[in-house]
Amino acid sequence: MILEPLIMDKLIAKVPIIQGGMGIGISLANLAGTVAKEGGIGILSTAQIGYQEELFEKSPMRANMEAIKIQFDRAKKIAEGGIIGFNIMAATLHYDRYVKRCVEVGADVIISGAGLPINLPELVVGSQTKIAPIVSSDKAAKVLLGLWKKRYNKTADFVVVEGPKAGGHLGFKAETIEEDIEGMDDELKKIIATVNSFADEFGKQIPVIFAGGVFDRSDIDHYIALGCSGVQMATRFVATEECDAPESFKQAYINAKEEDITLIKSPVGMPGRAIKNLFTERIKNKQIPIEKCRNCLSFKHCDRKTIPYCISETLLNAVTNNPENALVFAGTNAFKIQKQTTVHEIFKELTLNS
Ligand SMILES: Cc1cc2nc3c(=O)[nH]c(=O)nc-3n(C[C@H](O)[C@H](O)[C@H](O)COP(=O)(O)O)c2cc1C
Repeated sequence: MILEPLIMDKLIAKVPIIQGGMGIGISLANLAGTVAKEGGIGILSTAQIGYQEELFEKSPMRANMEAIKIQFDRAKKIAEGGIIGFNIMAATLHYDRYVKRCVEVGADVIISGAGLPINLPELVVGSQTKIAPIVSSDKAAKVLLGLWKKRYNKTADFVVVEGPKAGGHLGFKAETIEEDIEGMDDELKKIIATVNSFADEFGKQIPVIFAGGVFDRSDIDHYIALGCSGVQMATRFVATEECDAPESFKQAYINAKEEDITLIKSPVGMPGRAIKNLFTERIKNKQIPIEKCRNCLSFKHCDRKTIPYCISETLLNAVTNNPENALVFAGTNAFKIQKQTTVHEIFKELTLNS
């Protein structure tokens, strides 16, 4: 099978591989820029993107707004003309301001999940930025694309379908995850049919991209055979020289065995998938006091008084110097990673045509 380019109107990625956004601080300019240089799409996560900026302790919001431009410009330089976009969680506090800032700096694409990005179309009006929701079920695809059509007479430029094997927050219930894994191919087929019906109505192509547990070329070929135009991969890119995560984070991936990859309860109200460590054990039966609220999530998605721990604090610990008090998000296939490699090597392997 030959991998065809990913076409989103006039925006074309030579290789139909999107590197999934990874917050906090895992997919910044270096990783995203290098993926884009290889012909894929590099995605910066806006989740506390400014954590390295001096301003961050005083004003996380201002630091994040500044860092959106700094990281985007840096990534674009590395990308040498390649495509760079942002992942902005719909649950982010001041979601609208983040989207507008990413559009202002020139984002090629914006991908939004962790909640339904209901007003995303109106926030990108007048720009060239392509938009994609992340959905995990046919129901969510129908609801969101239906709303976008009704409210704005707009549709998606592409759709990311995130399955239950993904790393990070999941749009599935922990209790039914095994059945959801079993049934995902059928669900994906339904989503493709739904997306195609909107594509017909709007007279345009809407590529569907599958994410979650995509690791090697046979996985990519499988999803393309099901009707996808490409894949989104995150876990596979973590243990690369170019990934912006610290060595301790990459090492946690390299050391992980299959049984170390577990589901955790996230304060966001969704389960998350991460690598077992002291922290994942501690949160099983203990509330961890919040040291400092950085107002990362909307109040609907984070009840500051009752949450078991602070998601920003624990993700920040993963990229600073406190890996055992941290959440190391990872997809089901993290255990397959045995050593550090480069983005170029991964692309060489994945794009080899048989
Ligand atoms: C370390 C890590 C951090 C992530 N952070 C985010 C994020 O900030 N926002 C988001 O929508 N998805 C996030 N994800 C999900 C990825 O973008 C991607 O869709 C998913 O992990 C794909 O599955 P895979 O890791 O098995 O390839 C994260 C995943 C990982 C592994």
